[in-house]
Amino acid sequence: MDDLRDKYLTAIADAGDEAALETLRVQAVGKKGEISLKMRELGKMTPEERQVMGPKLNALKDEINSALSAKKQGLADAALDERLRGEWLDVTLPARSRRSGTIHPVSQVSEEVTAIFADMGFAVAEGPQVESDWHNFDALNIPGHHPARAEMDTFYMHRDTGDTRPPHVLRTHTSPVQIRSMELQGAPLRVICPGRVYRADYDQTHTPMFHQVEGLAVDKDISMANLKWVLEEFVKAYFEVDGVDLRFRASHFPFTEPSAEVDIRCSWEGGTLKVGEGDDWLEILGSGMVHPKVLMAGNIDPAAWQGFAFGMGIDRIAMLKYGIPDLRAFFDSDLRWLRHYGFSALDVPTLRGGLSR
Ligand code: DAH
Repeated sequence: MDDLRDKYLTAIADAGDEAALETLRVQAVGKKGEISLKMRELGKMTPEERQVMGPKLNALKDEINSALSAKKQGLADAALDERLRGEWLDVTLPARSRRSGTIHPVSQVSEEVTAIFADMGFAVAEGPQVESDWHNFDALNIPGHHPARAEMDTFYMHRDTGDTRPPHVLRTHTSPVQIRSMELQGAPLRVICPGRVYRADYDQTHTPMFHQVEGLAVDKDISMANLKWVLEEFVKAYFEVDGVDLRFRASHFPFTEPSAEVDIRCSWEGGTLKVGEGDDWLEILGSGMVHPKVLMAGNIDPAAWQGFAFGMGIDRIAMLKYGIPDLRAFFDSDLRWLRHYGFSALDVPTLRGGLSR
């Protein structure tokens, strides 16, 4: 019996895995195991012998069973420790920079523009993409016969035959959000309105859907000087340069008077754009003082209030800042393009943390 005990307890202590333990269990206390066979022999013994041997065998069986389960637990604990060591992870480490999804340049630039104007007190306003022709045109001082209507290659929504109301349009610019913001908030007012706009046009620099951002500030004594300062601050922050020359070129828009197109000084030396130096000028936006008729359309009294407005192409300024040559590729959903021009989702643009790096 002592030999049996030593043999099994040593073997159990040495077992390297659960399978080895199971084999030992079968050999020792399984139906035909050594100890079970010994127990069967009890029947052939005299009652006196049985009284001595019975309890001894039972005790041995119990001892081996508990050694087996203790060892089993030990093996499971060791396996768990091993796994915990192997799968240890420092969740405070920065995320890996290799990423499968990226932020689209249009989203990135919209965030950048929003961050810059938010810092100057502009809130974000939105309007519908399917717009009434009144908001898109008439309210902006573009009457029915005006050539601007034809110039904009407008997409018109369908009307049932016999329905004589003017059809809704896919907004051709973000300027109707000026009207909606004035209707909704009244004066004073400071908003930017980024969003999608639509025109029937398609080539390297035109797609039927693109993005604009509108700006509108209405207050008691707002002048062109305020417009100029705001735009200078914007261009410096957006292109991440210390200084820029802006050129205000007299222009015409129905919804502003006076109107100006704004160019920035730049150089194209070596084929890359540098903002703030050189002898070239690049047009980046349209702007002006809000036309009194436009204020009136927004229920604001032009005798008491005035304001400035501007509008620019988000895709266009994205192409300029990030050196993207073809607008059409913006909307191809080509993963290689998105990986190349996309931005990490973890780098949220802020003025303090940096817009693009
Ligand atoms: N809506 C004009 C366009 O799409 C851009 C524009 C020009 C907006 C002058 C303005 C502005 O607010 O004042 O071409």
